Amino acid sequence: MAFWDRPPEERLADFARLRELGRPVYFAEPRVPLVRAGKGFHALVRHADVVAASRNAKVFSSEPAATSPEPPPWLAKILGTPMVNMDDPRHARLRRIVSRAFSPKMLAKIEADIEETAARIVDDVVAAGPDDFVEQVAARLPITVICSMMGVPERARPYVLSRIDAMTEYSGVRGSLASPRTLRLLYGNLRAIADLHRLVARLGRARRENPANDLVSALVNANPDGERLSVKELGSFFDLLLVAGNETTRNALSHGLRLLTDHPEQRELLLADYDARIGGAIEEIIRFASPIIQFRRTLKEDHELGGHPFQAGDKVVLYYLAANRDPEVFADPDRFDITRSPNPHVGFGGPGPHLCLGANLARMELKIMFRELYGRLPGLRASGAPEYLLSSFDNGITRLPFTYAK
Ligand code: HEM
Repeated sequence: MAFWDRPPEERLADFARLRELGRPVYFAEPRVPLVRAGKGFHALVRHADVVAASRNAKVFSSEPAATSPEPPPWLAKILGTPMVNMDDPRHARLRRIVSRAFSPKMLAKIEADIEETAARIVDDVVAAGPDDFVEQVAARLPITVICSMMGVPERARPYVLSRIDAMTEYSGVRGSLASPRTLRLLYGNLRAIADLHRLVARLGRARRENPANDLVSALVNANPDGERLSVKELGSFFDLLLVAGNETTRNALSHGLRLLTDHPEQRELLLADYDARIGGAIEEIIRFASPIIQFRRTLKEDHELGGHPFQAGDKVVLYYLAANRDPEVFADPDRFDITRSPNPHVGFGGPGPHLCLGANLARMELKIMFRELYGRLPGLRASGAPEYLLSSFDNGITRLPFTYAK
């Protein structure tokens, strides 16, 4: 983990050196509590290699898991397998069912909710005064959006938040793997996941008996093709939304404020014509920050990529963060430029079956939240250095002081 504790610029310089080597480099797998240390992996750091592997899901499989190191098999038995860890046809079936959650119709329905939440967040910032952008703004929006998507009743939300805090506390864990504190946090993490499963299972059963006009009802009752989620699959989907849609969007918001503070000329450019430029600004924030650092694939058969002969069973890690700074694709890649066009970043994953399902929802959240913030607090800026999460997966900011004094 020492590498991930280093300043972000140093890590990016190391990734640039790996890219220049022109061949995938092999690394040992980090040790994680209760997870058997697996085989090492090859790092894919060039944009072309990441795109090629993402496209070729028949060879670059997401099973048994797309994370590195992979969760122990007993966990999947208890909690079910999220679709991000599946290949087609199992993956395609789930993706077909849950895509309803992200249809333009569903997003239009949720837009007013996001606007209302963003306004409430800014009201609260004004009432309390600015302190930590992560806690007061970035952490609040995505979780509220996911809860309202899933129809989690208002009164159950503080409970959901407390369960998510228990999960997040573990994901930011530092120190000895076998320490009593680490084990306590791990236990808390597993309990929190089980509690959330129980909550949505109750919701799912209720909606199966009495369907309402909401997403959970649509997911647990059959679509025109006769497909529906089982209650266990609904639990896994909720976990996936929380893991995939919560910290990612929260970190994109925090990185966004940091980048627009560090690059005042880009901020001026954005605010001079917000509606015309926010789309490009969001893509550039995602490219530059890469809120998800990497996902993994496992080779199903022998295959050559980037001049390297891989063997069946080899693991590769797709470093989206490194591919997003590849000078072969992005001119002057370390320049933050909200007008960059084209901007074929892989911050939402590479082209292929697992491309982020929530990308348009995330874009909508960022657009509405920054519009509300800059519209009402034009002096908004980060006012100190960010504190970073120690993680090889989430490019996370845990604290970001801010101000909106002119
Ligand atoms: C800035 C915010 C976000 C970023 C950077 C991001 C990034 C990603 C990435 C890189 C993947 C690819 C996984 C792979 O390679 O195997 C992914 C998949 C996924 N994301 Fe996002 N995501 C974001 C927001 C969201 C939101 C808001 C949701 C939903 C509420 C969401 C739901 C999903 C789901 C369900 C998948 C799995 C798709 C599949 O396996 O078919 N994401 N995301």
